[in-house]
Amino acid sequence: MTQKTIDQAKAVMRRNDRGSYTVPTHGLYPFQWNWDSALSALGFAHFDETRAWREIETLFEHQWEDGMVPHIIFHEMDDGYFPGPDVWSTGRDVPTSGITQPPVTGFAVRRIFDRAEDRKLAVEKARTLLPLIHAWHQWFYANRDPMGTGLVAIIHPWESGRDNSVDWDAAFERVPADGVEPFTRRDTSHANPAHRPTDEQYKRYIWLVQTFRSLDWDNSKLHDASPFQIVDPGFNAILIRSCADLADLADKLGEAEIAAQSRAMAEKGIAAMETLWSDRHGQYLCYDRAIKTLVDSPSIGGILAAFAPIPKLRAKAIADRVAILAQSCTYLIPSHDPTTPEFDALRYWRGPVWLIVNYMVSDGLDIAGQTEMAHRINRDCLRLIERSGFAEYYGPINAEPCGGDTFTWTAAMVIEILRTQKIAA
Ligand code: DGY
Repeated sequence: MTQKTIDQAKAVMRRNDRGSYTVPTHGLYPFQWNWDSALSALGFAHFDETRAWREIETLFEHQWEDGMVPHIIFHEMDDGYFPGPDVWSTGRDVPTSGITQPPVTGFAVRRIFDRAEDRKLAVEKARTLLPLIHAWHQWFYANRDPMGTGLVAIIHPWESGRDNSVDWDAAFERVPADGVEPFTRRDTSHANPAHRPTDEQYKRYIWLVQTFRSLDWDNSKLHDASPFQIVDPGFNAILIRSCADLADLADKLGEAEIAAQSRAMAEKGIAAMETLWSDRHGQYLCYDRAIKTLVDSPSIGGILAAFAPIPKLRAKAIADRVAILAQSCTYLIPSHDPTTPEFDALRYWRGPVWLIVNYMVSDGLDIAGQTEMAHRINRDCLRLIERSGFAEYYGPINAEPCGGDTFTWTAAMVIEILRTQKIAA
C-alpha cells in the first residue's frame, strides 16, 4: 500500500496546488483556508520543503495589522462559493474573511523545522515566521480572552472549523435568524446536502457575519458583542500546543523573549483547561461563556484536547474514552458520540471521522505515552482511505466518503502517517 498510496496522495495535493497556496478541494472550497494550509504544509514537507514553507508564508502575507490571521484568503474570484468577499466586506486589498481559525501553524512550523533536510532554508523561513505566529497567539489572548482566564473563546462556529457541531446547538438558539439578507448557498451544489449544515444554521452563520461587519470588523468590540462565545477545548488545545511548540522553536533560534512569553501562555492555558474537565464524560467539554455554563455535549472537541500537553492522567482518560467510542463505531474517532440521539453519521461534524483531527489526537496521545491507542487511530485512518479514497470526511460506521472529494489535508495526513509509520498493531 505504502508507495502507491503516497503517490496518489501527492497527486491529490498537486491537483489542488495553485502555486503559492493550495485549495482544500476544487469546487467546494476554491480559496486558501487557514488551518487547511498549515496541515497541508506538513504533507508537502515530505516531498517539497520549499513548497511547504511557501504555503505558510502565503497565509501570513495576509495577516491583519492587529495580528489576526483570517480563515479564508480570497486570492482569485470564484462565485462558486458562498459567502464570498462581498458578504465579508473586510476592505482588504486581497479580500479575506473577518474571522480566524484553529491556530495550528505554530505546531506545523516547528515540526517542519525539526525534520527539515535543508537546514539553511528552514532557519531562514522559521526566523521570519516566528514573530508573525507569536503576534497571532498574542492577538488571541488579547482579543478572545478579555478577562485573562487563560482560555480563548470562538465567536463564530466557523472559527472552530467544526461548523455544525452539536456543541453549538444550545448557544445557537440565542443567535437570531431574522434580518438576514437573502442568500443562495453554493456548498450544497458541490456536496450532498445531507452531509452539510442545515439552512437554519446557515442563516445564523450569516447573521453573525453581518453583525461583525456592522462593527467594521473591529476586534476590540467583536468578542463582547457576540451572542456566541464558546470556549472550545479542542481549539484551545491547538493554541496551547502551538504556543508550547513556538516556545521550543524560539529557544532553538535564540529568541528568548518569544520563548518565555509563549511558554507562559501555554502554561496558563493548560492550568485553565482543568476547568473544562468532566469526570462524568471522561473528557473535556465546551464552556458557554455568554451564560457561564459547561456545555453537556460529548464531542470530539473534548478529545482533541489531547493534542495539548495535558496532564498524563487526563491523556490516559481520553485514551480510555476513545476505547469506549470504539465500541459503537467501526472507524475511530467519530466527531460525536454515536450513542447519543444527536449523532448523525454523515453530517459534517455531527458524527463523521476527520483525518486531521485523528492525526492531532494520535500525536498528543503518542507523546503522552498512550501509544497503543495512538497507533490504532492511525491505522483506522489508513483503513478509511483504502476503502473510500481521499474524502473530506467519512462515516464512522460504514466508511462512506462524505463532503468534498480529493481533499488536500486528507492526502497530507496520509503522507504523514505513512512516512512516520506510527501504526504498529
Ligand atoms: C464552509 O464554508 O463550509 C467553511 O467551513 C467555512 O469556513
